[in-house]
Amino acid sequence: MKRIRENGIDGVLGLIMFYGLGVVCLIMWVVTRFQQGWLIATVIYLVMGSFFLHTTLVGKELIWDRVLRDVSLTKETRALDVGCGHGLVMFKIAQRLPLGGHVTGIDIWRQRDQTHNSQAAVERRLAVSQLTQEAAVQTADMRQLPFAPQTFNLVVSSLAIHNVKPKAGRLQSLQELSRVLRPGGQVVLVDLGFSCQEYKKALQQLGFTDIHVTGNGLNGWWGGPWMPTLTLRATKLK
Ligand SMILES: C[S@@+](CC[C@H](N)C(=O)[O-])C[C@H]1O[C@@H](n2cnc3c(N)ncnc32)[C@H](O)[C@@H]1O
Repeated sequence: MKRIRENGIDGVLGLIMFYGLGVVCLIMWVVTRFQQGWLIATVIYLVMGSFFLHTTLVGKELIWDRVLRDVSLTKETRALDVGCGHGLVMFKIAQRLPLGGHVTGIDIWRQRDQTHNSQAAVERRLAVSQLTQEAAVQTADMRQLPFAPQTFNLVVSSLAIHNVKPKAGRLQSLQELSRVLRPGGQVVLVDLGFSCQEYKKALQQLGFTDIHVTGNGLNGWWGGPWMPTLTLRATKLK
């Protein structure tokens, strides 16, 4: 429960859908006097819901623990977490930063994307964790970042950009992310499979190099392997 309070649940409607369909199929199994097909459907939906729950509560965090092992965090680091929500990634970066480094999180705190997220909640946790020197949050839309060009040398985003609709908004967000990144700066995006392919193309057009997209296995399954979470790393041309 503490984990749900601190990190929220991503895309809670998806989770409700899987478990809801599982319950409906279970009822149908009883109503149809135990027809096997309904029991199979019940098990499938409940398993899909469980994959989803695992990814949002545990898998996503394991993905970032691994991803951040390959990211250099120094006293010169100026990082931006785009769509930080409860701050899962921002906290991990802040805890790893040596004195002098800093990470900023921005979000519009949309509840349907992540339950119970708010600027006040993140600020309270930063104070309790004594990380107010290393990290700060502010309300901002990723399509219009309130920062000067080349403010950051690291931009990260976790399962946030795909929430911007339509596609033009996501492309605008990537342009903004590129604008606030210094030449030679790194971008690390963890997001849904189909979105990462879209970002790869857009970042190529924006002049990024060393673009690598990698999978994360069942830690990133939003219901099953057909909805995976991928990691994209890229560098802004110097
Ligand atoms: C699924 S949550 C992920 C939060 C966090 N990055 C994580 O991994 O736990 C997506 C977040 O993106 C935020 N978001 C959606 N559209 C946004 C926008 N246009 N600008 C900034 N944040 C946005 C939502 O409010 C939500 O907090």
